[in-house]
Amino acid sequence: MKKYSKILALVLAICLLLALSACGAKKSGGDLSTTTAGKLTMATNAFFEPYEFYDGDKIVGIDAEIAAAIADKLGLELVIEDMEFDSIIVAINNGSVDMGMAGMTVTPERLLEVNFSSTYATGVQVIIVPEDSAITGPDDLTGKKIGVQLGTTGDIYTSGDYGDENVERYPKGSEAVMALLNGSVDCVVIDNEPAKSFVAANDGLKILDTEYLAEDYAIAISKTNEPLLEAINTALNELIADGSVQAIIDKYIKAE
Ligand code: ARG
Repeated sequence: MKKYSKILALVLAICLLLALSACGAKKSGGDLSTTTAGKLTMATNAFFEPYEFYDGDKIVGIDAEIAAAIADKLGLELVIEDMEFDSIIVAINNGSVDMGMAGMTVTPERLLEVNFSSTYATGVQVIIVPEDSAITGPDDLTGKKIGVQLGTTGDIYTSGDYGDENVERYPKGSEAVMALLNGSVDCVVIDNEPAKSFVAANDGLKILDTEYLAEDYAIAISKTNEPLLEAINTALNELIADGSVQAIIDKYIKAE
């Protein structure tokens, strides 16, 4: 009996060693990615200032910088792929990208499709109207034409609250704002920070003081890649703890 328990202990010790070395290998970063080794591919929709937008032909913004800092910690090279917002979760789940970072709100429905990292920012769905609009808050939206970006929480929640038939969906938030300017819709429901840049860039629009909804932004990762979720969370939590994330946010969002 004693002999067997010694052998058992030895076998267990070997198993433990093997498991530990597997962990060590993961930490090196090279095999975390589901796409090309050594790269961290991020899907986004880059018409969403200040989170992601074009500076010339380069995608910059809060998400791009946080992603670069995470990739750096993991020893991976960040590659950003711009696509329709609606395609991001599809791309994550068919394995063509490693993660989605697009001012993406954690919702119960999305949690059924993907894993989310720790939250790194908060967003608020606000209502943009023409300066002379009679709409003063969410209560006035009943029966109105609401413009949104397709597949966003603005789309999902207004469709539920005010009826599918009253919601006009556009591939880009900027296109919803154009529709508001030419009178095709009565208001646009969109995240507060991009709303501010749209209103600053176009005369005659304002953001209502009464907000529609508050939300948490996080990074979406395939449910089949738990090691990547853990690695991203470790890196992201460090960047939150040492103030790097806040510094990146403050660089793009100036206190009013
Ligand atoms: N926060 C909203 C959502 O998750 C809108 C995000 C849109 N992001 C973008 N990059 N266009 O649905």
